[in-house]
Amino acid sequence: MPLSRRTLLASAAATLVPTWSKANRERLTAEPVVAQILPEGSGTTPSLGFNGGTPGPVLRVRQGDELHVNFENRTGEPSSVHWHGIRIDNAMDGVPGLTQDAVPDGEDFEYRFVTPDAGTFWYHSHSRSWQQVAMGLYGPLIVEEREPPDVDADIIVMIDDWWLEQDGELRDDFNSMFHFSHAGRLGNYAKAIVSQSSTLKGNRVRLRLINVANARVFPVDIGGVEGNLVALDGMPLKKVEPIDTIHLAPAQRADIIADVAGNIEFSFWTGHEQYPLATIDAAGSNPSPRTSPIVPLPPNDVATTNGDEDMHVTLRMQGGAMGGQHPGDDIWSFNGVSGLPDEPWFEVQQGTVVGMTLVNDTSFPHGIHLHGQHFHEVDGGGKPGPLRDTTLVDARASRDIICVFGNPGKWLLHCHMLGHATTGMETWVEVT
Ligand code: C2O
Ligand code: CU
Repeated sequence: MPLSRRTLLASAAATLVPTWSKANRERLTAEPVVAQILPEGSGTTPSLGFNGGTPGPVLRVRQGDELHVNFENRTGEPSSVHWHGIRIDNAMDGVPGLTQDAVPDGEDFEYRFVTPDAGTFWYHSHSRSWQQVAMGLYGPLIVEEREPPDVDADIIVMIDDWWLEQDGELRDDFNSMFHFSHAGRLGNYAKAIVSQSSTLKGNRVRLRLINVANARVFPVDIGGVEGNLVALDGMPLKKVEPIDTIHLAPAQRADIIADVAGNIEFSFWTGHEQYPLATIDAAGSNPSPRTSPIVPLPPNDVATTNGDEDMHVTLRMQGGAMGGQHPGDDIWSFNGVSGLPDEPWFEVQQGTVVGMTLVNDTSFPHGIHLHGQHFHEVDGGGKPGPLRDTTLVDARASRDIICVFGNPGKWLLHCHMLGHATTGMETWVEVT
C-alpha cells in the first residue's frame, strides 16, 4: 500500500513524540517551624514542617508522571518520607529498617517514583512517626486524573488534632504510656486546614478530605453541599454514593464532588457534641451552575478480584489497656509478636490473591494500613467492596479484606494510630 504524505507524517509523529512522562522536580526541606494552630491572636506552636510550614506544600502531579523529590532533613534528628497510598517502587517507600536507612540530620535523599493511580494521597515522616507526624511533618500529594472531572474548584481539607498547652505549645509527652496503651495521642484541639477559604454558591467543588491525625477517628459531617462521595483512599468508587457521616480513621481519605448550596461547614461528632472543623464561605453565586449528574471517576488500573482467594491468613491484634494477657514483649502485638519481626508475616508471589481476617481482640479501634498496594474491604456477603489502603477495625470486632499482591517488595503493615505502631503493632509482607 502506498503511503500517502498524511499517513507518513502521522506515523512519523507517533514514533517521534517521546512517550515517557513528565518529570516533576520538588524539594522538601523538613525543619523546625512555628505554626499558628490556635486562632490568630492566640499563642503559636513551635513544631516541625516542610519548606517553612505545616502542612507541607501541596505536591500535585499528573497520573503516570514521575516525581523527583529532593528531601533535605534539617529536623535535628533522623527522618524519612513515606508516600502514603502510592503503589510505589519499594525502594522509595521511605520505611527505615525495611526499605532504606533513616536520613541523618543534615543529609539529603532523592525520592524518585512514578504515580500510577490518580487520587488523593499524602506524604509524611516515617521515622519516629508518632512524634514527627504529631509535630507536623506531613502534606498533601494530589495525583490528577488524565482527564480531571469538571469542577469549579479542587479543595484540600486536611483534618488534624493537636495535644496542646494553653499557650499553644505542643505537649511534650510524646512517649506517654497512657497514650500508647489507650487510644493513642488524641488531641485537645482539632481543625481542618482548607486550601481555600471561599467559593461561590452554585459552584461544583471537589473536596479532598485527608485525616492526618496521629490517632483520632473523625466522624465528619459536611453541611452546605449537595453531592456524592466519589473515592476512598485515592481509589474511585464504582458507583457514587450519597454523603452521610464519613468515618475517617487516621490516614484515610475521602473525595467528594458536590454543588455548593451555602457555606460549607465541616464538623465532627465527639460523644454527643458536634465540634466545628472549618468553614468555607459561599460568597456570591455562580451564574451558570452545572446541571450534569455527578458520575464516577475513571477507575485506576489496579488488579482486582471477584473474591476467590489463593490463600487466607488471620491477623490477631492483642494488648493495650483492658486488653488482657498476650505473648508479645511490648504493649501491643500482632499474632503474638510485638514490633517488626525478622521474617515477614507471609511471603507471596506477585499476583497472589490473599484473604485476610483482621481480628481485634483489644479494647480500642485500630486503623490498619498496608503499604504498596490497595486491598478490598469485604462486605458481609463476602463480596469485595471498595479499594482502600487503610481499614478501620473497631474494638472487639473483626474485618475481612482481600488483596491482589501486585507490587513486589517488602511492605509494612501497621496500625496508623502511630503510637500503637511503635509499641508493637507492625509487621511486614514480602511480595516476590
Ligand atoms: Cu501512612 Cu506506614 O504509613
Ligand atoms: Cu492501633
